[in-house]
Formats: sequence, structure tokens, C-alpha cells
Amino acid sequence: MKISIFGMGYVGCVSAACLASGDHSVVGVDVSDQKVDMLRAGRSPVEEEALPEMLRQAVDKGVLTATLDARRAVLDTELSLITVGTPSRSDGSLELGYLECVSQGIASALREKSDPHTVVIRSTVLPGTTERVLLPLLLEGSGRTLNRDLFVCYNPEFLREGTSIKDFFNPPFTILGTQDDNTFQKVALLYHGVQGEILRCSIQAAESMKTLCNVFHALKIVFANEAASVLHGCGANALEAIELFLKDQKLNISSAYLRPGFAFGGSCLPKDVNALVALGKAHGIATPLLASINPGNDAHLDRAFALIQRRGIKKIAFLGISFKQGTDDLRESPALRLATRLIQNDYDLRIFDPIVCMHNLLGANLSYVERIMPDLELYLDYDLDRVLDHGALWVIAHASAPIRQHMISRAVKAPVIDLAGASPLSEALSDYQGLCWMAVP
Ligand SMILES: NC(=O)c1ccc[n+]([C@@H]2O[C@H](COP(=O)([O-])OP(=O)(O)OC[C@H]3O[C@@H](n4cnc5c(N)ncnc54)[C@H](O)[C@@H]3O)[C@@H](O)[C@H]2O)c1
Repeated sequence: MKISIFGMGYVGCVSAACLASGDHSVVGVDVSDQKVDMLRAGRSPVEEEALPEMLRQAVDKGVLTATLDARRAVLDTELSLITVGTPSRSDGSLELGYLECVSQGIASALREKSDPHTVVIRSTVLPGTTERVLLPLLLEGSGRTLNRDLFVCYNPEFLREGTSIKDFFNPPFTILGTQDDNTFQKVALLYHGVQGEILRCSIQAAESMKTLCNVFHALKIVFANEAASVLHGCGANALEAIELFLKDQKLNISSAYLRPGFAFGGSCLPKDVNALVALGKAHGIATPLLASINPGNDAHLDRAFALIQRRGIKKIAFLGISFKQGTDDLRESPALRLATRLIQNDYDLRIFDPIVCMHNLLGANLSYVERIMPDLELYLDYDLDRVLDHGALWVIAHASAPIRQHMISRAVKAPVIDLAGASPLSEALSDYQGLCWMAVP
């Protein structure tokens, strides 16, 4: 395929070298005459293992050229990759000026040719950028029609500087954000010979996941460093502890606890987060990430309250009151905290939780309830239908599969707010709202 690549920085140069090593012929476009001159001379503008040799070979074979002339590059190719920078603005948002400028340039060149053209955005952008910002520029500027003679895909890049050539050929997967079959087939051809699955998704999902990946990697690094600093500070062997921590691939290094749902609670998590932060403080070690965990959890509870408030309905059927399903432990239960707040704000609640029985609560569990909501028994009802009949709004903090099935079977008209996580309810009910999700994927 004949490909133009806009932006010959790290991503552009690596993409150019790797694609030109396959069946493609590549023209690299940049605004820097210094970079273009270096590429023309077969020299690499960036330092990366194996990149200089690959670029030189490609230039010598005549499958890689470089130019300052964006218009010519578009006219001579059938697909354009955009790999320009998206640096931070002073407010933390991303500078889109380079992307906008390239999109306008591609669009105006497209007016001069009639062949179909595909534009693949590889720069990292926030969700919505391609469709709200770049697509209008490309369509209006070119006068073309999407998916007829102009095809657009968001295709995040996963390479890491230092190992970028290896990463290009061995990514975790290739993500193609497009709803259009032809675009998908066309862009997938670029990655013939690249390892891993090619996954297709919406443009916004592709944009979102790239940012999520980077943020999660950053989170993991800061977590490891803060946690190890506290452990080391108090004399523990941090490396030994972290190696053991990493061996748990059921709960630690896994998808556990990574799906959106309700806030956490219980007798362990909030307490032990506080304990590690306090240990750090005692040893003079700042732990801003660890210290933000419990407040972050509280903010999620605030979101749940605000979501219920926005419905403007006071009569509520509230399902699940213990800190999680399948236990009667109410300590630090986010459901109990939310229910308490609703009652304090004059909501009329009936609470259903088949496992929680006030007469069976003992010790710290009982003391916690007596402190937070001493009259819980007044609101509890073990008759599910009676509770559902009471509610003009059904709020699920947690509910077992049979209970959810029963709710569906009642073919409800009542709106449902689900705090627990995406479930089949989302498809079966007409007025279903997740706390921060729309429908079962
Ligand atoms: N560097 C990485 O490891 C990495 C990895 C994955 C994704 N990304 C993302 O990829 C994008 C590019 O990153 P990078 O590190 O390669 O950036 P970079 O700053 O190294 O390179 C950007 C290039 O674009 C050129 N450019 C600017 N305006 C141009 C225009 N109008 N026409 C043509 N070229 C133009 C610049 O001169 C520069 O050479 C960013 O969005 C980044 O977040 C980077």
C-alpha cells in the first residue's frame, strides 16, 4: 500500500520504518526541514534501537522517502497515518493544533484527487476528539462523504520508546476504532505480519482505551513506588513483599476490581488504606496517591447520591444494604452510608437484603450499624415484592441473579438505578441507568 505518514517524531519514524519493511511504500511528512533532510539521507531523527538500520535500508530500497510537501504526499498515496504530537496545554488538556493543521492539509489536498482515501489517526487523543474535532475538518475541507470516498479510523499506538520496534511488531493487540467494514479491512492490511489480535471497536472506545492504558500504567508505577517507600521506611523488605504481591494473579494482577460498579466498603479495605497512609506519615513519607483512595471512593458515593437526587423521586425500593452481596457485614457498607444519607434527606426507603437480619448482628458489625443507622430495622423488609411495590424508583446497591431476574419478570415501569455494575437488567428494562455506564457491552 502507498502510505503517507504525517509527523516524523518517535511514532512516525518507527511506523515508517516498520511499515516500509513490509509490503508498503511510505512517504514521511514533517514540517521540520532538518528531520526531512535526515530521513532523505537515510539517517534517523530519533534514537531508537535498530531504527537507524531499518530507516537506512528502507531509504536505500526506495520504499521510504520524506517530504515537506503535505499536498503531494496525499496525492501520491491512498492512506495517511497521522502521528503528530498532542502535548499538554497549561490546563492539562491536550494541544490539538498539530492534528487540526494536518487534518486541514489532508482535506484540502483531497479536493485535488478523486480516488478514495483513508485517514488513520495514531496520535493519542481524548474520547470524542476524532468525531467532534477532526472529522468535521476532514469532511468539510475535502467535500467528501464519510465511508464513501473518505474513510477514517482511530488506531492507537502502543509502542514504548526504547523498545519501540519490538513493540510495533508485538503489541498487546491492534485496536481499530471504526464502525465501517471497508475501513476496517483496509486498515487491517497495514498490520499484516504484526502479532496479536486485531480488535474492532467504536472510535471513542479506541480513543478512550489508549488514554486509560497510559493512566493505568502511571497509576501502577506510583502505587508501587509509594507502597514500597512506606514498607521500606518502616524497615520491611519492600522487594520481597512486592514480589509476593505480584504472584497473586487471581485478585492482584488480574481483571478483578477493574470493572466499574459501586464504592468499596467492608471491614478491611477502608481501614487498611488508612493504616498504610498513617504508617507513611509516621515515617515522614508522603503518599498522595494512597491518601486519595478513600476520598476517591467517597466521591463515587456522592455521585450515586447525586444520580438518585436528579431523578426527583422520593419513594425508593433499595436493594442490598450489606457492604457486598452474600454477607451480612454492614461495616463501612457504602449501601448503608448511601441509605442513611437518603433517609436524612427525606427519602422514603424500603430496604431489601435477604441476608441481613438485625437479630443476628453481633460485635463490631452491630456497633457500626448502631452508630450509623440505629433504626435500620424500621426500613428493612424481607418481602421483595412489597419493597418493589413501594418504590417509584428502584435502586440496586447489590442484588443476586435470581433477584434481578425477578425484577425483570415484573416488567417494571419504575425507573431503575443500578449501582452494582452492568447486568442483563440494562437490556431488559426500559428505564435503566447505571452509575457510570449505559448498557451491557
Ligand atoms: N512517543 C511515544 O512513545 C508514543 C507512544 C504512543 C503514542 N504516542 C503519541 O503519538 C503522538 C506522537 O508522539 P511522538 O512522541 O512521536 O511526537 P514527536 O513530538 O516526537 O513528533 C511529532 C512530529 O510531528 C511533527 N509535526 C508537527 N506538525 C506537523 C505538521 N503540520 N505536519 C507534519 N508534521 C508535523 C513535528 O515536527 C514532529 O516531528 C502523540 O500524540 C503521542 O502522545 C507517543
